[in-house]
Amino acid sequence: MLFWSKINKGATEGDEKLTAANKRLLTGIHRLQFEPLPRTKVHSSGMEKLPMMGRRIVLFPLPLLDYMNPMFQLAEILHAKGFSISIIHTNFNAPNPKNHIGFTFHPISDGLLASEASSLDLITLFDILNVKCVAPFRDRLSQMLSDALEEEPIACLITDGMLHFTQTVADSLKLPRLVLRTSNVSSLLAIAALPLLRQKGYLTVQDSQSELPVPELPPLKVKDIPSVRSSNSEAFFQLTTRVCKGIKASHGLIVNTFEELEDPAIAIVRQDFQIPVFAIGPFHKIIPASSSGLLTLDKSCIEWLNTQAPKSVLYVSFGSAAAIDEIEFGEIAWGLANSERPFLWVVWPGMVRGSKGSHPLPDGLTQMISGRAHIVKWAPQEDVLAHPATGGFWTHNGWNSTLESICEGVPMICLPFIADQMSNARYVTDVWNVGLRLEGKLERGEIAMTIRGLMSEKEGKEMRERAAFFKEKANLCLEEGGSSYKSLESLASHISSF
Ligand code: UDX
Repeated sequence: MLFWSKINKGATEGDEKLTAANKRLLTGIHRLQFEPLPRTKVHSSGMEKLPMMGRRIVLFPLPLLDYMNPMFQLAEILHAKGFSISIIHTNFNAPNPKNHIGFTFHPISDGLLASEASSLDLITLFDILNVKCVAPFRDRLSQMLSDALEEEPIACLITDGMLHFTQTVADSLKLPRLVLRTSNVSSLLAIAALPLLRQKGYLTVQDSQSELPVPELPPLKVKDIPSVRSSNSEAFFQLTTRVCKGIKASHGLIVNTFEELEDPAIAIVRQDFQIPVFAIGPFHKIIPASSSGLLTLDKSCIEWLNTQAPKSVLYVSFGSAAAIDEIEFGEIAWGLANSERPFLWVVWPGMVRGSKGSHPLPDGLTQMISGRAHIVKWAPQEDVLAHPATGGFWTHNGWNSTLESICEGVPMICLPFIADQMSNARYVTDVWNVGLRLEGKLERGEIAMTIRGLMSEKEGKEMRERAAFFKEKANLCLEEGGSSYKSLESLASHISSF
């Protein structure tokens, strides 16, 4: 994710609305949701616990839920490979050490003002962290390196790509740094291409040209370029340029993806960035994803799914951040109802802008969907997607959701809102061919028709076959000899070689 935003996806997606979309309010749901991974159910393949290698890795996550979870998953994976783990973390959104037995935790003062932590847009927050954390991070890491002389040597530093300042610090301390990218490689290509796209004028095109293809970056269209029409696009541009520079200067890139899914993009990044790329995902198939501390998983939906016919249910969730407006909520609800298909819908409190609690369904709808709908505040998504009754997923295409759906062979309806979700959706529909895209204004008739298309035996057949193909690949890549298995072995050797 590039933005954890309250989304304002309206009928027209002009500058003003996308500006609002880029505003990230670090509200209660965001701040409190972080509950680090329970330790530790590890996928058997490739993860045999090794004797301690006598090498320590220091990890530094970006302190936001969707960035911290994959970093902690990676930490657990490397721990299971025999490395000792130290976590440097900000006081803001500090993790709970009790959930990670065996790790050592090293807080640093991030200097974030309450107002900065609670009301800034994400790009600004990233910029501030990249400035305010420099001195405390360098001092802490430097102290850890001197302590390590008498204890266990520190092999390397792994940080989130967004924390680009850490490359300079690592260089100054002569410590190899690797980068974790929590989204995918294809969207990295898109941000790496921004300087070229800007030079060619793509970043200032009119709305009317948003459907044009970008031949320099197939299969993306202009509207899929990350943040192209945001008003803080200059800050975004500068940030992503620094992020890419930091990745290029690093000792390697670790990504939560697998070769069979993103082989061409991975090959391009290897060539263009001239660094090793380790596609070792899907992480959640190795280490279970974190639970959400704020929203309790409603397991009633599994019981409800148990009563439904195989592959009959559409699962609907727009992740943890994408808020919609009242009108869109109504169109979605009526679209689901009119599709005449069973559905399981995640509607978390506050998801409809302006409503703090649960939002009521439009009048007359409850009766119409009675018996074929189940609505929850928060679902055990991985279990839902793996359930035999689930036949489709209407998603915002956050990378975690997209990957989880691919891993379970569930075809998607794509409704991307912003940032990497746009290119993720394009890959889902045009490259992997495992989904349909809802375009333009949300409208009940169009929604119902798209749902019927995805869920119909005939029209959705090819997508289901492609989805089943990737599901198999996602499983095989983690088995001994599989691409992610081998990549993880290479990563462990790479780190051990420092
Ligand atoms: C964000 C961005 O949207 C995304 O583009 C980026 O790649 C990562 O950060 P988010 O919007 O929350 O994340 O979406 P996503 O990446 O899909 O993550 C949502 C996570 O919440 C998934 O792991 C999903 O399994 C989980 N979830 C969602 C639940 O467990 N239950 C739910 O009801 C809904």
